[in-house]
Amino acid sequence: MPTWPTLARRTVLAAALLCVIVLIIGIVLGAVFGDLDWVLAALLVDLGVLVLVLSRGAANARNEALQRMIERTDAASDRLAALLADGFTGAWDGRRPGEPLRPGEPLDMLRRDLQHDLSALASLQPLMPAGRLVPAPGGWAATPETLVLLIDRILTAPSLETVVEAGSGTSTVWIALALKRRGGGRLISLEHDAAYAAQTAAALERLGLADVVELRVAPLESRTVAGREVTWYAGVDPDDFPRVDVLFVDGPPGYLGPEARWPAVPVLAAALGPEAWVVLDDVDRPEEQAIVAAWAEGEWSGVRLACGAATDRAAVLIRQR
Ligand SMILES: C[S@@+](CC[C@H](N)C(=O)[O-])C[C@H]1O[C@@H](n2cnc3c(N)ncnc32)[C@H](O)[C@@H]1O
Repeated sequence: MPTWPTLARRTVLAAALLCVIVLIIGIVLGAVFGDLDWVLAALLVDLGVLVLVLSRGAANARNEALQRMIERTDAASDRLAALLADGFTGAWDGRRPGEPLRPGEPLDMLRRDLQHDLSALASLQPLMPAGRLVPAPGGWAATPETLVLLIDRILTAPSLETVVEAGSGTSTVWIALALKRRGGGRLISLEHDAAYAAQTAAALERLGLADVVELRVAPLESRTVAGREVTWYAGVDPDDFPRVDVLFVDGPPGYLGPEARWPAVPVLAAALGPEAWVVLDDVDRPEEQAIVAAWAEGEWSGVRLACGAATDRAAVLIRQR
């Protein structure tokens, strides 16, 4: 039974008892040796116990808040799906108001996607600086699940020097937060649009992350890559980079053409580290699926890639030995 705040009653009682015993011992020793320092030492130990108990309470409160958030959002996504289902009454054969969703039907998939996104957001929450707003994932930006995958790789890679990102935005901030948490490595983010670059730079500055990111504003230019006429960030070549351990390809924008992101691997393969991961976003589009297939089939500056895990919207390719 929790007492104050979010601590078990026996934890509070045990801590109080310990404090009293320590204080009594301090007073007795102080009286025996005629030295007040014993009492002061006992008070210091009590203070330590108090700090430990309070920090445990704060951690419990945070976990409980997270749990409540997940439960509330799960319930909200169920309600939303039920409302949508009612709205569709008559439009879909045989659906009656309030009728439960059948597993796998479109609304059921929508509900599952929402729950999935919300769980991924809950996983991202511990990276958020206390009391600060962080740009929201999803929409134009990488999805929560893709960010979780990138961040997990950044936090667990045995060695990590550089992350390179093509296309800056929300992901830039989250990758920077992960690098800060890791305590090493930096991000080079390529952006062709000066206005978006300025927005991203402002967010990084506001959150104290500017020191882990090099935001390179590079307009797009035509060039020949592996015999093809393509558009790519001006002046961006493998020689400009230290060892790249994660390459996140979320630009240039797809509206520039079906092969807009294809040059990323042919151009930067020579800079990829021995355990590098390449993550391509927006593989729900056939154009990006074709790019994944082309990257996995070819050999690029002696580098071969094989398909690894995938998220709801991104594919991972891992460098082969
Ligand atoms: C898919 S966005 C890249 C987003 C970034 N990697 C992220 O996850 O936030 C690709 C390009 O679209 C532009 N862009 C950035 N934020 C945008 C937004 N909110 N709406 C439309 N385009 C945006 C930028 O030029 C960016 O390089």
